[in-house]
Amino acid sequence: MQILGIDVGGSGIKAAPVDIGSGTLAADRLRIPTPSPATPKAVIKVIRTQIEHFEWDGPVGVAFPARVKHGVVRTATNISKRFIGMPFADELKKKTGLPTRVVNDADAAGVAEMLHGAGKGLTDLVLVLTVGTGIGSALFINQTLVPNTEFGHVDVRGVVGEVYASDRTRKEKSLSWAKWSRRFQRYLDRLEFLVAPDLIIVGGGVSKPERAREFMPLLKADAELTTAQLGNEAGIVGAAIYAADPTIA
Ligand code: BGC
Repeated sequence: MQILGIDVGGSGIKAAPVDIGSGTLAADRLRIPTPSPATPKAVIKVIRTQIEHFEWDGPVGVAFPARVKHGVVRTATNISKRFIGMPFADELKKKTGLPTRVVNDADAAGVAEMLHGAGKGLTDLVLVLTVGTGIGSALFINQTLVPNTEFGHVDVRGVVGEVYASDRTRKEKSLSWAKWSRRFQRYLDRLEFLVAPDLIIVGGGVSKPERAREFMPLLKADAELTTAQLGNEAGIVGAAIYAADPTIA
C-alpha cells in the first residue's frame, strides 16, 4: 500500500508517496519552499500542488509543526497563528477530496524511527527529539506513542528549550558546534531529569552524519544516545504510516 506523506516544515514542504510496508519513498520527493507568511490558505495551496504533481488519488498523511489533537491544530509556535483551532485534517479533505490525517511532525518522525530506524524493535522508554527550526519531541513506551508531548518548550536557565538550543539558534547566533553542544547538553540534562528515557534519538536537521559527528561525541547522558537513521525523510514516512494506521494515537 502507498500513501502520500507530506511534511510541513519551517523552510520547506516536502512530499512523496511512501511504501507503507518498507517505510521507504516510492518516488523522488518534491520540496516546495514554505510560503511566507505560511497562512493556512498558502500552505493548502502548496499541498494541492504536490497532490497534483504526483497525480495522487489516495489517502494523505500530513506532518505538521504544532500540537494536533484529533485533526485540530492547537498551537502555533513557528507557523501562522491563524492555524490555531483549525480542523486542518477536515479542511484538507474538503479542499482536496482525499482522506487525510494530520499529525505532529515530531510524532510522525518518531513513528518512522521506531518502526524503520534507530528505535526498531525496542520496547524501552524512547524519546525522539527533532532539532531544527524548533525542537519537537515524541515519546514511546513499548513502541506505543504518547502523542503531542511538547518537550521543546521545557525551560532551560529560564529560556524556552527550543529557543535556547534549536538548530535555528545555533545558526542565528553563529555558535560553533562545541558551543551549541553545551547548550544542547543543558537541555538534555533537564529532559533526562524530567523523563528518564532509556534511549534518546536525536533527529531533525542536526542528525545529518556530517553534522552529528561534530557534536554527538561531546554529549553525555544516562540514557543511550543515538542519531536518527531516516534523516530528512522521517517526517514524510511517519506521516504516511500514521495515516495508514488509525490505531496510532
Ligand atoms: C512545536 C512542536 C513541533 C516542533 C518541531 C515546536 O515549536 O511546538 O509542536 O513539533 O516545534 O517542529
